[in-house]
Amino acid sequence: RGTMTVGDLAKLLHKDASEVIKKLIFLGVMATINQEIDMDAIHLIASDYGVEVEVKIPVEEDSFETVEETDEDENLVARPPVVTIMGHVDHGKTTLLDAIRKTNVTGGEAGGITQHIGAYQVEINHKKITFLDTPGHEAFTLMRARGAQVTDITIIVVAADDGIMPQTVEAINHAKAAGVPIIVAVNKIDKPEANVDKIKQEMTEYELVPEEWGGDTIFVEVSAKQRIGLEGLLEMILLVAEVNDYKANPNKRARATVIEAELDKGKGPVARILVQHGTLKIGDAFVAGNCFGRVRAMVNDKGRRLKEAGPSTPIEITGLTEVPQAGDPFMVFEDERKARAIADRRSIKQRQSEMGANTRVTLDDLYSHI
Ligand code: GTP
Ligand code: MG
Repeated sequence: RGTMTVGDLAKLLHKDASEVIKKLIFLGVMATINQEIDMDAIHLIASDYGVEVEVKIPVEEDSFETVEETDEDENLVARPPVVTIMGHVDHGKTTLLDAIRKTNVTGGEAGGITQHIGAYQVEINHKKITFLDTPGHEAFTLMRARGAQVTDITIIVVAADDGIMPQTVEAINHAKAAGVPIIVAVNKIDKPEANVDKIKQEMTEYELVPEEWGGDTIFVEVSAKQRIGLEGLLEMILLVAEVNDYKANPNKRARATVIEAELDKGKGPVARILVQHGTLKIGDAFVAGNCFGRVRAMVNDKGRRLKEAGPSTPIEITGLTEVPQAGDPFMVFEDERKARAIADRRSIKQRQSEMGANTRVTLDDLYSHI
């Protein structure tokens, strides 16, 4: 816009509005807190506080949303389904994920398999499935609240020796709100006190009716511990994937979502991201939330360095200038200058909306300070 109110400028500079007004008066500008002041005045005040003001690119160019997202059908290629596992505490989510991963470890990888990222890919019948380990219930809610839809299929794990518990219900609600297919994995069937029918009965109260009872929800009986029924579960995932025909265009600039990020002592800011569209390549300039960067290195879930990563690939990247947040959209731009400008613009916008959320200062408030 090129202008800003005195109040907003004061907040941006972390100064009292009254102090800024006094400075303006000193500069010969008579201003009130809600008055818009121009770029020159902003520059003068800011430099007086030792702050450099940069002129930003226009607002229209900054939003990811404006980038058109149309792909001709012929450009779309099948991609692996992204699967999230949810369920009540201790019902066996981690054990199930571990079992699935071990079932699918091929010889060469056996030694080197370490879970670098909270997401991994398995391959069955030459078809890949991406599992997201991270989205616990809070992360899932947060991501959904921020408009990030990362999962295609939700597996709800429920222990056959227990029953539907609060977090099971929460998981069902999350999956339903996200509108993704649900597969119920009835776990711990090896236990003598397991009662699969009781679980199915309870599930019908949440409109999850097993196919054999006339419904359309897939139930799979498994024992994560004894590794029973895992192949069947994987086959069901692939079946649901086939029916839904998940596709993406790998031949364009990458778009991804940040799953988690942290500051690593050696590597600096690292982000685990899930590529959703396009292909991410080493050297690509990107914006992640309010941060920007250039992909320095990419590592997959097997700890292997990659030169590029296509749709549904979970990877860990370095080359960020700051640490983004879980759920942040990630997008590649033509060059680093553009990425930087957009990241800057987004930070300013965020700060502005944070200011807006703060208490509005009125003139009366202001005069009571003078
Ligand atoms: P949180 O991460 O705490 O929510 O739990 P979780 O759902 O990941 O459960 P986890 O995999 O940690 O399993 C909880 C306990 O159940 C562990 O002691 C597992 O060994 C046990 N367990 C998991 N699956 C099975 C199973 O199929 N059979 C039996 N008998 N025990 C199981
Ligand atoms: Mg766990």
